[in-house]
Amino acid sequence: MDFVNNSWYVAGWSKDFKSNITTVEMLSQSLVMFRATSGEISALEDRCPHRLLPLSMGKRIGDTIQCGYHGMTFDKVGKCVRVPGQANTPARADIRAFPVVEKNGIVWVWMGDPDLADAENVFDMPEFHSDDWHMHHGGHLHLKCHYLNVVENLVDPAHVSFVHPTTLGNASSEDVPVHVSTSENVIRAWRWIRNAPAVGFFKEFGNFHGHVDRWHYYNLHLPSTAVIDFGSIATEENCAEEDRDRGVRVFALHFVTPVDEHYTIDHWMHLRNSARGQDSASEKIDGLLETAFQEDKAILEAVHKAEQRVQPRKPVRIAIDKGPNVYRKRIRDLVDAENTEHLGDPIAPAFVYKD
Ligand code: FES
Ligand SMILES: [Fe+2]
Repeated sequence: MDFVNNSWYVAGWSKDFKSNITTVEMLSQSLVMFRATSGEISALEDRCPHRLLPLSMGKRIGDTIQCGYHGMTFDKVGKCVRVPGQANTPARADIRAFPVVEKNGIVWVWMGDPDLADAENVFDMPEFHSDDWHMHHGGHLHLKCHYLNVVENLVDPAHVSFVHPTTLGNASSEDVPVHVSTSENVIRAWRWIRNAPAVGFFKEFGNFHGHVDRWHYYNLHLPSTAVIDFGSIATEENCAEEDRDRGVRVFALHFVTPVDEHYTIDHWMHLRNSARGQDSASEKIDGLLETAFQEDKAILEAVHKAEQRVQPRKPVRIAIDKGPNVYRKRIRDLVDAENTEHLGDPIAPAFVYKD
């Protein structure tokens, strides 16, 4: 199914999880989640081992969940603590609990081998912890399409000229080449558009009206976290590539969670280096991004539908596809590595692209 299991995936924002039982679907599995009285979040298999009724249809009693069919009861780590009608609670009736980490207002769940779950590997960036940056949790975009199409769109700066003509792009970037490089876990695709009219987003947020230099750096942390660093600065400022903080700089973050092969949730938020502490700026950016994301959604859902039909020809690949091509290759390698027992020496992930 092209899912990478051994990774942390976002289930939602901290504020989304309260004491009530909620269901979260990811990687074709169903989880039941709730915030225990200790404040920790529990994520359990949403399936009673008896007749397979989803436990989310039962009820929470203290820090346990009682099945809504015959009352078998499970604690917050999945241990069966009651079987009505008998005295024993065999360990074979325990259900799976998934590791959960809550960090920076984001809730992550580990879907793979529990022995490999390492909280140190949860995505983080210095700007989350800096007073120079304003962090704002946005929304959850639901898309009826495969997650690989969503993520490849997030390592593809070339689409903005055509898909987002009123917000993130305009005609002046249509023919600007895309650069791509990779390191072990990150694929970066980027380009600068120098001395061109500001795009809609930076007219609204940044108040640029003359010519600007604009950048888009799409940093894709495998398997499905995108950090899009974009911004603008007046052209006469002669901004060097590494001096982007001199301009109005925004990081749009996308935590893409595959639900199943036909459905994906993109949990999106942003960080910015200006208008810190201003809720009105957060609302304005949410509105601009939502407009852009609805444009992506229309494209991606139509592409997914077209992919389900008989294909009369081989797909065509073009020069601006460097980012998506590298991304799909890296995902194939990760999925193969998870699904194969290598009894010899481990194979190093040697594929590194640099143009
Ligand atoms: S289905 Fe859950 S106790 Fe019977
Ligand atoms: Fe887009």
